[in-house]
Amino acid sequence: MIVTEGLKKIFNKDKKNEVVAVDNCNFSVNNGEIFGLLGPNGAGKTTTLRIISTILKPTLGTVNVDGLDIIEEANKVRKNIGFLTGETKLYDRLTVKETFTYFGRLYNIDEAKLKKRVKKLIEMFELDDKKNKRIAELSDGMRQKVSLGRTIIHNPKNLILDEPLTGLDILARREVTNFIKKERKQGNCIIFSTHVMSEAEELCDRIAIINKGKILCVGEKEKLKMEYKCNSLEEVFIQLIRSQDEKSNSHI
Ligand SMILES: Nc1ncnc2c1ncn2[C@@H]1O[C@H](COP(=O)(O)OP(=O)(O)O)[C@@H](O)[C@H]1O
Ligand SMILES: [Mg+2]
Repeated sequence: MIVTEGLKKIFNKDKKNEVVAVDNCNFSVNNGEIFGLLGPNGAGKTTTLRIISTILKPTLGTVNVDGLDIIEEANKVRKNIGFLTGETKLYDRLTVKETFTYFGRLYNIDEAKLKKRVKKLIEMFELDDKKNKRIAELSDGMRQKVSLGRTIIHNPKNLILDEPLTGLDILARREVTNFIKKERKQGNCIIFSTHVMSEAEELCDRIAIINKGKILCVGEKEKLKMEYKCNSLEEVFIQLIRSQDEKSNSHI
């Protein structure tokens, strides 16, 4: 479970190029739930997710992961979090199996356990015929599956997936969405960011819409559509962003 309270991130504070990337962000994500963080490019999604994953410190506010504070207990939190971003890197020269083993060792997983875990991940992502292939030889879709495997090598209960479907073809997309749904079924807590509303329609239970660092709404997908009298999340999204723009213009 993940709870954020009053989260704020200012880059280059008190300088000319100060950016308020995240501004008073509050939401909670339950176990067994896929929570969508939806927003256009530059909205503050990646920054929020990097804070939750203990990579960045917030300027203000707190995040709790399974009851642990991300700053006070960062090491414990890391053991229970898997973070996938566009910047998740793989080594071209390692094979799939070597990649999983390498990242498992970074988590100090006991060798016997790690062997089992690597086998499980290869099965889970249907990578058996690719396990001895080098990363450089794989398609983008295959690579994304390996990146996901690498992200969950330590079997975390909380999964933070930053635009995990971007750039994938239909088949790879299907495999990754199936994987995310399976993780939900197992009771894991999943945050998924996207700027593509149809992805959120398909996958998410609850969502938050974020723009210019501010959360504009949080709630169950269907309830939000009713509340804003919209047929799709895309309409809700456009309505909220327009009214935010109108409000900020009226202050000028
Ligand atoms: N390290 C950084 N230094 C300065 N500004 C940053 C940094 N990272 C992100 N930003 C700015 O913060 C805002 C939010 O960025 P980001 O969280 O990456 O948005 P998103 O993931 O929704 O596209 C953007 O204006 C971006 O330029
Ligand atoms: Mg981003």
